[in-house]
Amino acid sequence: MTQDELKQAVARTAIEYVVDGEIIGVGTGSTANFFIDELATIKHRIKGTVASSEATAARLAGHGIPVFDLNDVESIAVYIDGADEINAQGAMIKGGGAALTREKIVASVSRQFVCIADGSKLVDTLGKFPLPVEVLPMARNAVMRRLAALGGQPKVRNKAGSDEAFVTDNGGNIIDVAGLSIADPVALETQINAIVGVVAVGLFAARGADVCLLGTPEGVRTLKY
Ligand code: A5P
Repeated sequence: MTQDELKQAVARTAIEYVVDGEIIGVGTGSTANFFIDELATIKHRIKGTVASSEATAARLAGHGIPVFDLNDVESIAVYIDGADEINAQGAMIKGGGAALTREKIVASVSRQFVCIADGSKLVDTLGKFPLPVEVLPMARNAVMRRLAALGGQPKVRNKAGSDEAFVTDNGGNIIDVAGLSIADPVALETQINAIVGVVAVGLFAARGADVCLLGTPEGVRTLKY
């Protein structure tokens, strides 16, 4: 099975977690895109969605699925999204697609978080995937010094094929921190959140996944936390 087929399989299984008549939080990335395409087939069953990025909002709207502003929504039944890494406790690294801040906001107000990922994302220790941190542009270098002091190798993410810093949907920049071996994800999340200038860190540990649907060649494994 290809990686895309594994992603498609978990996206299809995630439909079982969609709650009829409710608002669904929708993540960002290639696996979330497969989920959006599946959601389109049952769109009449839900009230609508809240999107975690402009790209996701555009894809949902393209399928004719209603997209609500989070400010107009009281509760979200379930948030469904991919991950760059997930561990056995449901803690994740996210933000490879630069949408970590909105993903974190939507996840934080959702009653359940269902992570959908191909089997390669399951790790013993988080940190091989460089940890994305969104920062306000003026604080880029100051935050990078603080992240280096934590033992990582921080690097500003650039626009593809350019020397200019990538700009997020929120007007922020992304610092990717390589070389971390994250033994205590909740502690590191708290520490990085406390750095002035940080908008959000792509460690989803204090509010991790409740369920992970993991695509493997033998079928979709369900991990519950
Ligand atoms: C987007 O910012 C990320 O958090 C994605 O959820 C994560 O990068 C997983 O993406 P893929 O589904 O494309 O692997």
